[in-house]
Amino acid sequence: MSHENRNTSDLKSDKVKDYSKYFDFSDAKLISQEDGKSTYRIKGRNIQINAAPSYRDEKQRGKEDVQVLYDFAIPDDMQEFGQGKYYLIATYGCQMNEHDTEVMRGLFEQMGYRSTEDKHVADVILLNTCAIRENAEDKVFGELGHLKALKAEKPDLVLGVCGCMSQEEAVVNRIMQKHPFVDIIFGTHNIHRLPVLLKDAYFNKEMVVEVWSKEGDIIENLPKKREGIRAWVNIMYGCDKFCTYCIVPYTRGKERSRRPQDVLAEVRELARQGFQEITLLGQNVNAYGKDFEDIAYTFGDLMDDIRKIDVPRIRFTTSHPRDFDDHLIEVLGKGGNLVEHIHLPVQAGNTEVLKRMSRKYSREQYLELVRKIKAAVPNAVLTTDIIVGFPGETAEQFEDTLSLYDEVGFDFAFTFIYSPREGTPAADMEDNVSMEEKKHRLYRLNELVNKHSKLSNERLLNTVVEVLVEGESRTNADVLAGRTRSNKLIHFTGDKSLVGKMVNVQVTHAQTWILKGEIVAQPIQLSI
Ligand code: SAH
Ligand code: SF4
Ligand code: F3S
Repeated sequence: MSHENRNTSDLKSDKVKDYSKYFDFSDAKLISQEDGKSTYRIKGRNIQINAAPSYRDEKQRGKEDVQVLYDFAIPDDMQEFGQGKYYLIATYGCQMNEHDTEVMRGLFEQMGYRSTEDKHVADVILLNTCAIRENAEDKVFGELGHLKALKAEKPDLVLGVCGCMSQEEAVVNRIMQKHPFVDIIFGTHNIHRLPVLLKDAYFNKEMVVEVWSKEGDIIENLPKKREGIRAWVNIMYGCDKFCTYCIVPYTRGKERSRRPQDVLAEVRELARQGFQEITLLGQNVNAYGKDFEDIAYTFGDLMDDIRKIDVPRIRFTTSHPRDFDDHLIEVLGKGGNLVEHIHLPVQAGNTEVLKRMSRKYSREQYLELVRKIKAAVPNAVLTTDIIVGFPGETAEQFEDTLSLYDEVGFDFAFTFIYSPREGTPAADMEDNVSMEEKKHRLYRLNELVNKHSKLSNERLLNTVVEVLVEGESRTNADVLAGRTRSNKLIHFTGDKSLVGKMVNVQVTHAQTWILKGEIVAQPIQLSI
């Protein structure tokens, strides 16, 4: 695409207009094709397709420029549309999706909608979905089954599916065939089109499908509805790493970094509003800035600038070991509001398996990175993600994962059984490890994870930790719950007025999943 001037209301419709090539349209009739929209009749329902996902297009990393746009506005005729109406968004998946939900909440509220948790009250229900593993998708299809009955009771209910699953051809096909009561399907690149798509679905009573296969532009001025004392800030979108098991590069498009001045302005504004903790988000935050052609500015530079902003805690996720450079390590060593918790997914402890996963580092390189981080960042707390049962993983190769875990001494890990994802290279690899064996490996790994979690918690016994108070504990209103700088959950007795503040807590009990303690001094005075 040439560097034409676009604006956020443009419809980026697909080059492909004959969707019957992509979907199981054996009993579908093409009714009309105009303004880049094709309308089919399938099983008694009209489906208007503005754009549909294509695995082939999602794989490509073209040279098309991504523009940064600042001109978003809710269309005039939608500004009052939600008066007296309620929305509900069910969110699955990672923090990226949680944050996208905050954007959609912002859009709904600008249209006058109010939020509800009650399905029976909602006028619009959106499922913001995750495609990372098969069980994530099963949950969504299960929920669609329940919503079918609700839709039968309440035909005016608008039901939407968005998020990463919508970027999959197979999912969109399945919804069109088996769940024709869904009203809107849109993807991760066209969230800002929600008001327009809602209008189409309401007035045309057709299913509206608009999923861009290619990444969209970066739209800076979308509304966001945040709650609580912790905030997420996107620093980049997409992923170019293409680990062989992973669907994310297809569902989220190519890596695009937000301009530093836009990220810094957002963080400053959140500081001014009194947020106590900010988590910088990206699928591969260490690649931040690599796509800038006009400036040399990396993730380390960004962290060094954010360090000077008056927010008590700054976190980031997720780090890819490959791009974790010395400059970043040096900046993290400066501490202050940059917390010493680093989530550094390793995935496997065997170099051969890492190679087949296309992680682009060896076991030794990962251990060397950990050594450098521990040397530069005092009290560094490391956590990780691990996949067991990758196709062809042998018993010995799995033992390497266990030994690496012991060697690093992670505080915690998210552990997963490998789940084949259609369209990814690993899905075509021969997999000779039985499910029973995979489950057994997961069990053994989890035993080790728990052992280290308990040990790391026990090391904190009798020390005083800085805690950000998040709220009352779920089970006992006299007990407050908070998080340490390293993100460990801690319970202690205290007054509700401390919620949102920092307190010093002495650790008195250490269990595998939780610490308990007692407040030892007055809240630390914050300058905010
Ligand atoms: N961008 C992040 C990870 C996002 S997905 C990163 O690179 O670290 C979160 C985790 O899900 C991954 O770290 C991986 O451990 C797991 N995961 C991804 N694809 C998977 C698959 N096909 N099967 C099982 N686990 C998977
Ligand atoms: Fe997936 Fe790898 Fe990208 Fe993480 S870095 S999102 S695991 S492809
Ligand atoms: Fe899931 Fe998409 Fe996140 S696949 S893990 S919601 S980026």
